[in-house]
Order: sequence, then structure tokens, then C-alpha cells
Amino acid sequence: MRIYFDNNATTPMHPSAVETLTTLSAEVFGNPSSVHFEGRKAKQVLEDARDRVAALLGAESKDIVFTSGGTESNNAALRGVVSNGSECCHIVTTTIEHPSVTAVVADLEVQGHEVTRIKPQASGRVDADEVIAALRPGTRLVTMMLANNETGVIQPVKEVAEVCRARGILFHTDAVQAIGKTPVSVADLGVDVLALAGHKFHGPKGAGALWVRGGSGLAGWVIGGSQERRRRAGTEAVPLYAALGAAAQAVLDEQDLVLGMESMRDRLEEAILGAIDGSVVNGKDAARVPNTTNLRISGCDSESMVIGLDLEGISVSGGAACGSGRVEGSHVLREMGVSLEDARSSFRISICRFTKKDEIDQFVGAVVRVAASVRASTGAAVTA
Ligand SMILES: Cc1ncc(COP(=O)(O)O)c(C=O)c1O
Repeated sequence: MRIYFDNNATTPMHPSAVETLTTLSAEVFGNPSSVHFEGRKAKQVLEDARDRVAALLGAESKDIVFTSGGTESNNAALRGVVSNGSECCHIVTTTIEHPSVTAVVADLEVQGHEVTRIKPQASGRVDADEVIAALRPGTRLVTMMLANNETGVIQPVKEVAEVCRARGILFHTDAVQAIGKTPVSVADLGVDVLALAGHKFHGPKGAGALWVRGGSGLAGWVIGGSQERRRRAGTEAVPLYAALGAAAQAVLDEQDLVLGMESMRDRLEEAILGAIDGSVVNGKDAARVPNTTNLRISGCDSESMVIGLDLEGISVSGGAACGSGRVEGSHVLREMGVSLEDARSSFRISICRFTKKDEIDQFVGAVVRVAASVRASTGAAVTA
């Protein structure tokens, strides 16, 4: 059996999500906008799914807009907030956001909006005070992720959102990597717009949501129909959203497993750090979601580790490959001040709530073997 430790890339679907998707694809084909029986049935399924996603966030169902996933949710949120004002504005963000945020912010900058980008500290966490200090008259939007996809480090969303709220600045958070790993409550966070993606918490690919605080005045992004409160026109993918709802429900029903991830992650890290000289967990000093370990093993380039582990039947993730195919080292680690060489020796392990102790122990054995063989092949010296 293979061991899949790349759950931050995507997760296998939960059995209840698979069941919902397959059953409803066969049985619920009506258009939720139709008034007849089939339409009403589809509408009921859609609204049940919305209730479930809302419950996961402690939100009201009316504030949930279904989307195709995290990328669309982030695009829609940022463009929607900014295009609501007629003049150019100031946006504050961080240098460790996902490309679905950074690319949109860069595009808005080209259009004339001003952008301030805050770097993380060495821990991987952005300093809330630095973000707050960057706010100024004319700041319309702050966008900051809740948990980083590469390190798992949790960002000070609540602290900054509170100040933004007092100053009338809209706050968007990309919560794609936090949902299903740590409790997320929109009321507690105090944000205005929050993005999530179903496939990161055992839901289907191509289904996500944007939570928009009532009255936030976010512009619609697909026009030509009254669906999703005129924010995203087009006939809804009812079975997909129902499966997203099932995955959301499963997170709430399986909180004991969600909580159990932390001890699995700790077991993994303790064993590896104890067994391999020159191994370090990037971001270990900051609060992190309990499923993510960004591991650096000196003398072992991430590409060799990913390939070596793949041959051992284990899937993990290395740095982002650039056009030449050369692994460049994660920009998130580089922003944290990790050297290029160390960033190239780092890879990401992301477990899920169904990960078993046996898998952790097998994984540790495999990492020890693969690291030893990579070091032997390159004659690399071990540096702490
Ligand atoms: C933090 C973060 N935001 C957004 C996305 C994009 O989500 P999707 O793949 O659903 O478009 C990802 C995906 O990796 C992510 O990790």
C-alpha cells in the first residue's frame, strides 16, 4: 500500500463525499432554478449543502457562494472588493501568499493600485504589528492567508482583522489550508471574506466556496443569471456541491480524528529529528496546522528525496519546479530567510486525519534510508 503524505496538494475524497457525488449525479439532475419537482429537489440538495458548509465556518448559509475552488474564490474576492471602488486604492498583503492571491494582487498593481507586501519573520509567521503599521488612509483591502500551504504556519489573521474592522478596511483570508485541520469560525476571526477549497479536506475537486460577510458589498464575478445571489451566474454543479457539503459535515463529525493529527505529526517530527543528524523542521517555532511538516535535511536535495521516497511507495512534495525543471527552493522558505541551499534541501510532508501510526513509522524508516543513500551518492557533509 502506498503512503500518501501530500494532502496539502490534494486529498483523497471522503467515502461519504464519494457516495453523495455518485448517488446524486445519477438521481438529482434537475436545475435548481426550475420551479417543477426536479428543480425543487435539486434546490433542496443545494441549500442543504450550503447549510453544511456554513456550519463548518459557524456562518450563515446566505453568505456562502459556491465556486470552483480556492483559486476562483481568491480571484473573485480580491477583484470583487477592489473593483467596488471607483478610484485606485492601497492593498496590504504578505510575501507568502498562494499564487492565486499574489498574481491577482500583482495584476491590480499593474492597473494602478498600490500594494504593500509584508515579509514573514524567520519563524514563518508574519508580524501582526508590521501589517497594522502598513495600514493607511486609502487602504481598502488586507489579504492574508490563515495557514501557509508550505510550512503550515498559522498567520495572525484575527489580530489584524480586528484592527481592519475598526478602521473600515475589508479583510480577506485564504483559509484553503486551514479548513479541516484547525477550527475556523468566521465570527471568531472577524474577517469579511474567506476562501475555501473542497479538495483540501476530502471533498471533490472543482468545488469550493467563498464566504462573504453580509453587507460587505462584494461585486459579482460571473454575470448573466441570478444564481448565487447574482455573484456567480450559471447553473450550479449540484452533486459536486452536495459532495463538498458532505466533506464539510465529515470534518465536524470526525473532530476526534482532526485533533489526533497533532500527535501523529509530533511522532513523525520527533522520530526524524532524533534519527537524522542535520535535520530541521522549518517553521517549528510558530503555531502550525497539525498536518504539515516542512523538513530540511542537509546534504539532501528535495528532488532526490521526493524521487527516492516515491520509489519507496511514499508521496511527498518538493520545492516548486521552474521552467527549466530545476528545483528552485520554496519562495516561502526564502522569504523566511532560509538560504537557497537549505531551501533546496527542504520538502513538505502533509498528513491527513486518516493517517495511521504505522504509516508514520514506515515513513520515518524510509526517510532515514533515502537520506542516507542521497548523502552517500553525493558525499555530502552533514551540517546542522
Ligand atoms: C493556500 C492555498 N490557496 C489557494 C489554493 C488554490 O486552491 P485550488 O486548487 O482549489 O484552486 C491552494 C492550493 O494549493 C492553496 O494551497
